[in-house]
Amino acid sequence: MSGGTMNDPGTKETCRCRRGLYDDSRKGNVLSSSSSRVSASSVPPTARSEGEILTSSNLKSFTFNELRTATRNFRPDSVLGEGGFGSVFKGWIDEHTLAATKPGTGITIAVKKLNQEGFQGHKEWLAEVNYLSQLSHPNLVKLIGYCLEDEQRLLVYEFMSRGSLENHLFRRSSYYQPLSWNLRMKVALGAAKGLAFLHSSKAKVIYRDFKTSNVLLDSNYNAKLSDFGLAKDGPTGDKSHVSTRVMGTYGYAAPEYLATGHLTAKSDVYSFGVVLLEMLTGRRAIDKNRPTGEYKLVEWAKPHLTSKRKIISILDSKLGAQYSLEGAQKIANLAERCLSMETKHRPTMDQVVVALEQLQHGKDAERNPKTEQNSSYQRPTMPRWRSWEDGE
Ligand SMILES: Nc1ncnc2c1ncn2[C@@H]1O[C@H](COP(=O)(O)OP(=O)(O)OP(=O)(O)O)[C@@H](O)[C@H]1O
Ligand SMILES: [Mg+2]
Repeated sequence: MSGGTMNDPGTKETCRCRRGLYDDSRKGNVLSSSSSRVSASSVPPTARSEGEILTSSNLKSFTFNELRTATRNFRPDSVLGEGGFGSVFKGWIDEHTLAATKPGTGITIAVKKLNQEGFQGHKEWLAEVNYLSQLSHPNLVKLIGYCLEDEQRLLVYEFMSRGSLENHLFRRSSYYQPLSWNLRMKVALGAAKGLAFLHSSKAKVIYRDFKTSNVLLDSNYNAKLSDFGLAKDGPTGDKSHVSTRVMGTYGYAAPEYLATGHLTAKSDVYSFGVVLLEMLTGRRAIDKNRPTGEYKLVEWAKPHLTSKRKIISILDSKLGAQYSLEGAQKIANLAERCLSMETKHRPTMDQVVVALEQLQHGKDAERNPKTEQNSSYQRPTMPRWRSWEDGE
């Protein structure tokens, strides 16, 4: 869940700082320079009541004890990750009965446990149940069930064995090998399809929290969007936007949304552009540890998206020579369009999907061995994983 991380806009490690969350902590934190994850109370996530959402969903309602058993009492060594909402634990349930099973048997699940109390946490929890119980798509994570018992709020998801895109791009460990160019493109396409589905007439939803930590990967690197706590129904009738309090994550939110609170599907397109840039450069959307001028990825990278030579200079060194220069240029161009200041100049997510599909199936899909030397960028003097190991 989008959980309301009051992220410090530094590295993800420092982003994990959590103050008292939700209602109180968020007051006065709207877009303050010291927090990157922005959230504030606003209109309810849905017109449906809590009772309606929970009773009409085809989700399993777990007891707290069932989930305690499934996760071996929320053992610290089963933690898959932590966000502003709480911790995510690995667990096991029976495929048919959905009852807790012995570790390693049945199906693996991910159990997200809210560790803060408060209205905002509950609201985001309910929004997640509301949207994920109604929306089904190969590029959206599947919600299996939930638990609402006294103060306990949990969500039970399909297990995404490769974790988040964020971990693959930025985490330094032997488990997370740097993602190859082709896998980055596959993930970008999967995530774009997820957003395109949300924006389609079938769903009409604005996601509002598109970022690398919310893109989860299965064993085949199929990307699925998670975290619908901030999602909103799109505008209806002849309205061009939804008016909201500004919520989202620093570094990813579109400038016009930050300025006006007017939310459109094009706000998600902007966030998609930021993630494309993160994939191209291997840099975080906001990174306090960078030198002045490089702190905000979009500001730093945008001037470099205009020419081949400049694009090469900002590409992630961990990519080695895996990409074709034409392909990299097209992605840089796509990112630039997604990041247009004017929303009308941004492509729709459907157009982004088409562009990414063309790139994957077209002549730029892989390096062309014949033109490799001319078209591929190589860093002959730099050992391939050096920047990965050294942490850039
Ligand atoms: N279904 C899942 N399968 C496997 N791992 C998961 C799953 N859901 C979440 N995780 C892991 O848990 C981590 C924490 O997820 P969570 O959504 O709580 O926070 P976040 O997205 O990192 O941050 P924020 O609270 O700012 O949105 C993820 O980054 C991911 O590594
Ligand atoms: Mg998340």
